[in-house]
Amino acid sequence: MARSKPRNPPLRVLVTAGPTREHVDPVRYLTNESSGRMGFALAQAAARAGHRVTLVAGPVALPTPHGVARVDVTSAREMLAACRKAFRSADVLIMAAAVADWRPARVLAGKWRAKDGGAQRASLELVRNPDILATLAARKGARLVCGFALETGAGERRARAKLARKQLDCIVLNDASALNAERTRVVLLESSGAREELAGGKTAVARALLARIAALRTSRS
Ligand code: CTP
Repeated sequence: MARSKPRNPPLRVLVTAGPTREHVDPVRYLTNESSGRMGFALAQAAARAGHRVTLVAGPVALPTPHGVARVDVTSAREMLAACRKAFRSADVLIMAAAVADWRPARVLAGKWRAKDGGAQRASLELVRNPDILATLAARKGARLVCGFALETGAGERRARAKLARKQLDCIVLNDASALNAERTRVVLLESSGAREELAGGKTAVARALLARIAALRTSRS
C-alpha cells in the first residue's frame, strides 16, 4: 500500500491498543474486553498518512500494519514501561488500549488448585494498576494526548470529566455496542469544547480521527 507524503512534517505517533492481561497464576488472568481493532486501525491510518508510528499492543491476534513499529506487552505495568520509553520522542499519544484498572496483589508461581482444602468460596485481593494515560499526560509538554472512554451511561458527561481529570487534549467516546464489531460510532471531544461525531467502518472512522488529531497537534507548532 502506498504511503502518502503528509502535507506537514511527519509526526511521531504513539498508539496503544488491545487489552492488558493481569495474571493470577501461570494459566489464569484478569482482562478487559477489547479486540484491539480500533487502535490497530489508528496505527495503520497514521502510517499511511506518512507519520512515524509506534504501536504498543496488549495480547491480540492482529497482524502488524505495514510500516508500524510494534512492541508487544502483556500487563499494564509492562505497557506503562513501553509507553514511557516511546513517549519521550513522541509528538502524539493515542491511548486506545483497554488497560485493566486492577491486578492481583500476588501472582501464584504454580496453578491455583480449586480442590485444595475443599473451599466453596475464595476471594482475590486486587491492587490498583497505574493510570498510564494520566501518568504520561501529567508531563506531556508540547505533546498532544488523546484518550478513549468506553461508557455505559451518561457518556459525554463522564468522558468530559475524564478529559479534564487526566489533562487530555481530546478524548474519543466509544459506543459499548461497537466492541468487536466492524462498524462503530464515536464522538471526539476536545479540550476547547469542540465536539465531532463520526460513524462508519472502523477503518474509515480511524482515518478521520487520526486526521483530526494530527491537525490539532500540527496547529500548535
Ligand atoms: N487508562 C490508562 N490506564 C489505566 C486505565 C485507563 O491509561 N490504568 C486509559 C485508557 O486507555 C483510556 C482512558 O484511560 O484511554 C479511559 O479509560 P477508562 O477505563 O474509560 O477510564 P478509567 O480511568 O479506568 O475510569 P472508569 O473505569 O472509572 O470509567
